[in-house]
Amino acid sequence: MALSFLLSLLAFHFAVSPAISTNSEGNALHALRSRLSDPTNVLQSWDPSLVNPCTWFHVTCDSNNHVIRLDLGNCNISGTLGPELGDLKYLQYLELYRNNIQGKIPKELGKLKNLVSMDLYDNKLEGKIPKSFSQLKSLKFLRLNNNKLTGPIPRELTALSNLKIFDVSNNNLCGTIPTDGPFATFPIQSFENNSRLNGPELQGLASYDFGC
Ligand SMILES: *[C@@H]1O[C@H](CO)[C@@H](O)[C@H](O)[C@H]1NC(C)=O
Ligand SMILES: *[C@@H]1O[C@H](CO)[C@@H](O)[C@H](O)[C@H]1NC(C)=O
Repeated sequence: MALSFLLSLLAFHFAVSPAISTNSEGNALHALRSRLSDPTNVLQSWDPSLVNPCTWFHVTCDSNNHVIRLDLGNCNISGTLGPELGDLKYLQYLELYRNNIQGKIPKELGKLKNLVSMDLYDNKLEGKIPKSFSQLKSLKFLRLNNNKLTGPIPRELTALSNLKIFDVSNNNLCGTIPTDGPFATFPIQSFENNSRLNGPELQGLASYDFGC
């Protein structure tokens, strides 16, 4: 009796332990789903009762069942993004382009230290580009173009030495365009159609960004 109880406890432990490693990621994705409106049912397979989110459509995991890609570009979704996205700590690709997502970009996205690509272009995002993005040391592609973003380009982003592509065109940014670090290489097209953005940055004009 006692032995069979022990065995069933053990079996339970092994059945459940994979969930423990990814539960927080499944929870984060489920929280995202609850914020979104999904008229074409692209999130239908997102069943929170499964052990982990790795079988959900538009979600990719690595061999340890950690979420490394979220591919929801061009999916006709609307709604907002929340702080829980910052819990997807293994995420490398955040692809949410060409939707109708509105509201602010959560500063918690700055916690995604493994992120290689963040594509939020062609949405209705507003507010500022979070300064916390300066912590995204692996980031190579950052496309925020065609939204309604305001405020300056945070100078802190010049520390992103791996950044290869940066596009903030077609927003409502202001201030001056940085020229340090990777910003020395970005084409002027990356910044066009921001009515109050001046640049490239002139010596001594960084103070111009205060209150822009
Ligand atoms: C996108 O959603 C809208 C409703 O919000 C719907 O009218 C339209 O047909 C959808 N488009 C596609 C391509 O599914
Ligand atoms: C400039 O950007 C705004 C905001 O995204 C957009 O509505 C407008 O169509 C763009 N204008 C041009 C000429 O691309």
